[in-house]
Amino acid sequence: MLLQLFCCLSVTVHNVIADEGTSYCNKFTQDCHNMEPPSDSVTALTVVPYTESQVLPHHRPTRDFHLGGQDIHIQQNWGSLGVAAVVWDAAIVLCEYLELHPEVVRHKQVLELGAGTGLVGIVASYLGKMELGTGTGIVGIVASYLGGHVTVTERREAMPNLSKTVDSNRLVSCPGSITVKELDWTADLSPHPKYDIILGADIIYIEDTFQALLNTLVHTAREDTSVLLSCRIRYDRDLNFLTLLEGHFHVEQIHYDKSRDIKIFSAKKIKTKT
Ligand SMILES: C[S@@+](CC[C@H](N)C(=O)[O-])C[C@H]1O[C@@H](n2cnc3c(N)ncnc32)[C@H](O)[C@@H]1O
Repeated sequence: MLLQLFCCLSVTVHNVIADEGTSYCNKFTQDCHNMEPPSDSVTALTVVPYTESQVLPHHRPTRDFHLGGQDIHIQQNWGSLGVAAVVWDAAIVLCEYLELHPEVVRHKQVLELGAGTGLVGIVASYLGKMELGTGTGIVGIVASYLGGHVTVTERREAMPNLSKTVDSNRLVSCPGSITVKELDWTADLSPHPKYDIILGADIIYIEDTFQALLNTLVHTAREDTSVLLSCRIRYDRDLNFLTLLEGHFHVEQIHYDKSRDIKIFSAKKIKTKT
């Protein structure tokens, strides 16, 4: 139902959002800065008419999805946490890909890097258990507690929001199938083990972190680990990360969602000669 409301909103005077929250554009110069909220924005209270459909996805306080056979409710908080507290299209596309290929995560030790709200990890935790968990007998029930596990990770600042979202979407039948852990690509990686599958949605976006992200992938992947990176290539410089990646991994594009302009790349470590 279309809600035509007059409502008090806190609005940015100098800036408008150009598309799904990915760009902030100065409406006078048309200069756009992807993803980072403007630091010098002036906010004011004013009365503006709006319809619910006009509120951009990143600015909605909540998002609801049905993925991995479950309803998922995510609270978003763009205003205070920015990029880490909203669901990006790359995450939705990666979830949809995993729904079509649940064998990728089923019974696997899965790591999600830069999880944000944790949508991908949450869906992977559902899919990783689904087949076994549907058993009605004791074997099915026991089996549902065995096998795969998902570890969703983030920078320290994003941890409280991520933990809250994961906790509120845990499978009642298998609450231990997903764990939240701090993993900053730029910090000491030695406490982190290797995983069967590494997932990342929209994590190729800050050039300064490219080397640290690569180091993280090299550290957490074995030669038989599959890395799946879902991304929107916004700038030519984003391709520099893929070039870096190709120094250590065989990289292949395995999916393209044209409507959302999101690509999924698969990467497997280049075998070292012994
Ligand atoms: C564009 S958001 C994507 C979030 C989520 N994966 C999604 O697609 O909805 C990029 C994420 O990378 C995380 N990130 C950036 N730098 C990081 C770092 N050094 N270590 C760990 N995570 C980082 C951010 O906190 C943010 O959540």
